[in-house]
Amino acid sequence: MFSVLLIAAFAQSELFLQRNCVACHQGKTAPMGLNFTQLDPGFANRETLSRWVCIHDAVSSGSMPPKPPANYDKSAFLQALSHRIEQFESSQNAN
Ligand code: HEC
Repeated sequence: MFSVLLIAAFAQSELFLQRNCVACHQGKTAPMGLNFTQLDPGFANRETLSRWVCIHDAVSSGSMPPKPPANYDKSAFLQALSHRIEQFESSQNAN
């Protein structure tokens, strides 16, 4: 289930994951336990951060999704995600 809060907080990337990833990455059979319907958009801790970094790298390298749709565009997603990762990193370093 996607919570309203989660969608509001991370609408753009959420939409991207829904369109391109969730068909496979959901439920108990999600590949490698990567269930994207349960991702924490808040970067609350190191574990969720490393998961987002993993997602970023898979999309960036083109290893995921295995078969991109015809009108596939990953640039906005990657930009938004790397921005959030950087923000989280610098907030951690400030402490
Ligand atoms: C057609 C089904 C399918 C779709 C769609 C899909 N995945 Fe995957 N994903 C897999 C499978 C199967 C694995 C495990 C085997 C492998 O690594 O190829 C996997 C593994 C992964 C991994 C861990 C291994 C790695 O390559 O880093 C990540 C991260 C990942 N997927 C992210 C994504 C993201 C992000 C999307 C959407 C942009 C996505 N996947 C779309 C099937 C899919």
